[in-house]
Amino acid sequence: MNVQHLGKALGKVVFTVGTFVAVCAMAQDAEYVSNSKCKMCHNKVSEGEQWKKWTETKHAKAYESLLTSDNAKEYAEARGLTTAPAETPECLRCHVTGYDAEKETFVSALKKENGIQCNSCHGPGSEHLAFGKKMMMKKDEIDDSMDMKILIPNVKTCLKCHNDESPTWDPEKYTLEDGTKAGFDFEQAFATIAHFNPKKKRD
Ligand code: HEC
Ligand code: HEC
Ligand code: HEC
Ligand code: HEC
Repeated sequence: MNVQHLGKALGKVVFTVGTFVAVCAMAQDAEYVSNSKCKMCHNKVSEGEQWKKWTETKHAKAYESLLTSDNAKEYAEARGLTTAPAETPECLRCHVTGYDAEKETFVSALKKENGIQCNSCHGPGSEHLAFGKKMMMKKDEIDDSMDMKILIPNVKTCLKCHNDESPTWDPEKYTLEDGTKAGFDFEQAFATIAHFNPKKKRD
């Protein structure tokens, strides 16, 4: 094979890989929808009023903390940061949903004032919205084996932010059943922000 052919062959490989990546990104790229959309369908008392419960958690105030808390200023200074915490990528990346710290961009559909929103844990949401609209009037046809096009979070989701890169990290914050200490414990942490639907059967 001469050099020119090799170049073409390589070019083709690169092109194929590039296309593959682009398609994958698109498939995952459900769009972010605002929290108030989730409120529309997930705020009934009889179904666990998830939206109201979220407003009562610290997640809803995560951006506000950067703006108003004295601790925020201290943490930022301790790290040698010179910009205000609410304008600092290193703080925003864990305190605002959908913020890209490398590009320093926000997602326009989301208000940064709403801090850590439903989408931070449940994913972007647009595909689920379509599912919800289709199924709202026929909930009795929904069964748990259905793909509802929404992410069900687990401990890995929490650990994206609850980790030792946070200035507040305390490796002994939680005491586990056997007496050992841990910086994060899913069961205890989730218990304080739980928003189950009482109509759903669980074993
Ligand atoms: C148009 C109505 C509608 C909207 C808007 C909506 N949902 Fe839902 N959602 C539903 C229905 C219907 C179900 C299935 C019944 C149930 O679990 O309440 C559901 C179920 C869920 C579940 C449980 C999925 C499972 O597998 O058990 C989660 C989590 C969820 N929604 C999160 C969200 C989030 C986050 C948003 C906002 C981005 C949102 N929903 C917006 C209608 C909606
Ligand atoms: C996108 C980042 C992010 C994710 C993901 C996240 N959290 Fe948080 N969490 C925060 C931030 C930031 C705060 C502090 C907000 C404040 O006080 O300003 C917080 C606060 C909390 C608090 C109250 C303070 C504390 O530590 O006792 C609990 C409980 C909590 N989160 C549980 C969870 C659980 C459980 C999950 C996973 C299901 C989770 N979080 C996922 C960022 C996140
Ligand atoms: C890796 C993710 C992460 C980063 C980066 C991060 N935080 Fe947080 N922050 C958290 C979590 C999680 C909590 C909840 C408390 C906990 O469990 O540690 C929190 C809580 C807080 C709180 C409320 C609790 C308190 O101690 O007053 C403030 C204020 C805060 N962070 C400020 C900042 C500032 C300022 C920065 C940037 C210098 C920053 N955070 C960067 C994840 C992060
Ligand atoms: C900090 C992460 C986090 C945030 C923020 C969050 N959720 Fe969840 N959500 C979870 C976890 C974890 C579960 C439980 C998954 C399981 O069944 O183990 C859950 C479960 C649910 C369920 C299913 C309830 C059931 O009984 O099966 C719904 C519906 C839901 N969330 C809606 C919302 C809505 C709407 C918002 C915003 C108003 C929201 N969630 C915000 C972590 C989060």
